[in-house]
Amino acid sequence: MGDRIFGEKKVNTEGKIPTGSKILDFVLGGGYEKDVITTLYGPAGSGKTVLCMLCAASMARTGRKVVYLDTENNFSFERLKQIAQYDYEKVINNIVFLRPVSFAEQKGMFGRLKELVNKHIGLVAVDTIGSLYRLELGTEQGTYAVNKEFGRQISFLQEITRKKNIPVLVANQVYADFEDKQKVKMVGGDILRYASKCLIEVIVLASGNRKAIVRKHRSIKSGKEMAFTIVQGGILGVKEGKGFFR
Ligand SMILES: Nc1ncnc2c1ncn2[C@@H]1O[C@H](COP(=O)(O)OP(=O)(O)O)[C@@H](O)[C@H]1O
Ligand SMILES: [Mg+2]
Repeated sequence: MGDRIFGEKKVNTEGKIPTGSKILDFVLGGGYEKDVITTLYGPAGSGKTVLCMLCAASMARTGRKVVYLDTENNFSFERLKQIAQYDYEKVINNIVFLRPVSFAEQKGMFGRLKELVNKHIGLVAVDTIGSLYRLELGTEQGTYAVNKEFGRQISFLQEITRKKNIPVLVANQVYADFEDKQKVKMVGGDILRYASKCLIEVIVLASGNRKAIVRKHRSIKSGKEMAFTIVQGGILGVKEGKGFFR
């Protein structure tokens, strides 16, 4: 039960949900894990939102509900249409959007999220978790209070996934590490890093292709990676310089 065939390999997908990309499912041993927070982090334009949309569409088309917290308020329904294709109506009907425009609103939305999570919810996506938090840090609210609230939101996501077995997919921004220019740091830093049992870094390669690199996982060696390109319908795996594959 729960096996899926990838080429000549059989993968047990129990406890996982499809990412919406067959190649990424294969890299992740069947998909994102159900009882953990998976965090995708990378620079703007790297593909975090397309990955969130792919997973949300794949869950919503099965008839399960998705809660999609869009904090950047630039969610493109046109883009979702390209990804969901002929299932668009069904997909859109099964996604509940929460769209806070300030960190105070994001706090309020977490209150709503608490009421929304029930057995019909197949995925909670937070795209992106750190943007309003980062803005709020620059205000008179005070770093301590803002960090405390951010920590509280992340604990709540942990509770949802651990106790209710609802997978949580988080996208997060990065900023340059001043000590090592080759590296990036996640907004919100260690709080989210520790809370996420799966961390996937997304980078943009010189070729314009992207790479997803597993940085932390309970059962996959860190450093496992896949190159991909963003296309109309989502993403396609690529072998650098060797064309596409599905
Ligand atoms: N239909 C499409 N075909 C190919 N690439 C697309 C399409 N729509 C958007 N993109 C590309 O996807 C990228 C944005 O990815 P996105 O997931 O929004 O990044 P992030 O959320 O990390 O900022 C942009 O480079 C954009 O050009
Ligand atoms: Mg985005």
